[in-house]
Amino acid sequence: MKILEKGFTDIEIDPSLDLFAEIEQLKKEKNAIILAHYYQEPDIQDVADYIGDSLGLAQQAEQTNADLIVFAGVHFMAETAKILNPTKKVLLPDLNAGCSLADSAPAELFRAFKAKHPDHLVVSYINCTADIKALSDIICTSGNAEKIIESIPKDQPILFAPDKNLGAYLNKISGRNMLLWNGACMVHEIFSLEKITKLKIRHPKAKLIAHPECEDAILRIADYIGSTTQLLKYTKSDTASEYIVATETGILHQMQQDNPQKTFIPAPPTNNCACNDCPHMKLNTLEKLYLCMKYETPEITMDETLRLAAKKPMDRMLDISRAAGLLG
Ligand code: 13P
Ligand code: SF4
Repeated sequence: MKILEKGFTDIEIDPSLDLFAEIEQLKKEKNAIILAHYYQEPDIQDVADYIGDSLGLAQQAEQTNADLIVFAGVHFMAETAKILNPTKKVLLPDLNAGCSLADSAPAELFRAFKAKHPDHLVVSYINCTADIKALSDIICTSGNAEKIIESIPKDQPILFAPDKNLGAYLNKISGRNMLLWNGACMVHEIFSLEKITKLKIRHPKAKLIAHPECEDAILRIADYIGSTTQLLKYTKSDTASEYIVATETGILHQMQQDNPQKTFIPAPPTNNCACNDCPHMKLNTLEKLYLCMKYETPEITMDETLRLAAKKPMDRMLDISRAAGLLG
């Protein structure tokens, strides 16, 4: 087996090994915690200590007493955990697990854009690199964005990055006119309005629930819009028995577990590929999770000056969320 700088390759794990038991054992031995996003494959969700949306994961990372944080998610999420925990080792099973949305805001271009609007306060969605966080005044997630925007005086101009869809949705519900960076998530832009419309005709009682990273055309016809945790909570409290789910398919695992009697249909993409699976999130596998815990690599490291600059807007977000009683 080779260990590359960014993770594992030529993986040869004894197929008779019970990876669930091995991972549990490693957790105890190393005082490790596994934090997983809802978009991870079901096996990873089943072995995680905490599964949540970006807000919940950041809050857990802030509070944990574990010595080792194993982050089953994408790079910006593991980076967030490191920003909040400089003395702890933070592992990501595959360092190539990036994010198309974070990639849509390169730091140098963003710095130049920000310089053109010196009177604007910069609010950045957590789906961005540590460099972008360091250039921001406040961070938000899909679960607290509305409250974060509300906390800013109405006459203060805002530059919102990197997700133009979430930004446009926030402009609509808040009545603001935030200046939007032109970024988007490849998964949430793939849903087909035409196919969803046809699906709704075949399932007239099904409710459409959507993540705010989706395009406006999808959000306009949605019955409920929210972060992954909010979508999950909605399916538990709502009385419908069928839902069309316009977000990454990984969330269906928890929805189905929490509501065994309900039906969840993934919203169809524009073509016939499985493009509503995030290719970055799905780079992590149970095998890579096991190996990364066993060998304690690949690890997230960060320059301390960058970490401190990125932590400031993260702390503001966590403080506002705490004051508003918001949990992910
Ligand atoms: P939330 O976890 O905040 O719902 O965001 C979804 C997402 O795209 C994470 O990459
Ligand atoms: Fe990034 Fe979209 Fe994947 Fe989330 S679903 S990690 S926003 S590419």
